[in-house]
Amino acid sequence: MGYPVAHSRSPVLHGHWLKRYQIDGAYVPLPVSPDNFVRALTALPLLGFAGTNVTVPHKQAALELLSEIGEVDKTARRIGAVNTVVVDDDGRMHGSNTDAFGFMENIRDKAPDWQASAGPVVVLGAGGAARAVLVALLDAGVPEIRLLNRSRDRADGLAAEFNPQSGDRIAVSDWAQKSALLADANGLINTTSLGMEGQPRLDLDLSALGQYASPGFLVNDIVYAPLETDLLRNAKKCDVNAVDGLGMLLHQARPGFAAWFGQEPVVDDDLRKAVLCDLGAG
Ligand code: ATR
Repeated sequence: MGYPVAHSRSPVLHGHWLKRYQIDGAYVPLPVSPDNFVRALTALPLLGFAGTNVTVPHKQAALELLSEIGEVDKTARRIGAVNTVVVDDDGRMHGSNTDAFGFMENIRDKAPDWQASAGPVVVLGAGGAARAVLVALLDAGVPEIRLLNRSRDRADGLAAEFNPQSGDRIAVSDWAQKSALLADANGLINTTSLGMEGQPRLDLDLSALGQYASPGFLVNDIVYAPLETDLLRNAKKCDVNAVDGLGMLLHQARPGFAAWFGQEPVVDDDLRKAVLCDLGAG
């Protein structure tokens, strides 16, 4: 469920798994306007659906509604959004958020030697995607998160929200500091829309990586269109772990598929190709 939803890659992703595992099921895009969202989600069990993904602009509304008429897990509460809904045998709806899981599984998959606990991580952005990334990094044991956003007040707000439960590990700095803060860090995550097709590029000086950064330094762009952003292309020249954002999309889909269709799905090159082909990127 989203609005609009035609751009979503999830039908191709889940459709690929349904075919691979020969499951007689369907995953369909449902365009639901904000005015109709509460009624549409409430009707889901009545229509016989096993569940749904929820995307923009409904993720917060889903959290609010399911807090009243269903259940919401702790991770979704911390992120402040629900992206996956599972209908149980009694018709009760359970909301979760699999973005933090997807983010970390992508890194485990593509940069398996990266140690979250080895040093500070610079996080750019303070929107919805940043919330999931912060939860994932805090839970993975990152000792210090250097959070920067063009509008500093949003970053300050996130730090004020997360710091009390996480040992004050988030330190906010001004956006202009983004290149300087890379020295002595262990990772850089871009959660902004900069570098995405049709958006301005991310202007970042990576020279600190070659000089000071730890050998296993991680650069992850959660943007996946284009797959190789300027940030990743430049990072690859610095001999660091450069991880693109497509895997986050693929891995975040696993828990929903497993719950709805009773099969743990695997993320592999065939799946990547199917989704990339759909994106028109290769
Ligand atoms: P999402 O849910 O995908 O994170 P969002 O909540 O709209 O989307 O957040 C977009 C992020 O990209 C924000 O951190 C935004 O910065 P602001 O909070 O200052 O708006 C960032 N962003 C978007 N365009 C930007 C630009 N031109 N320069 C710097 N940051 C930008």
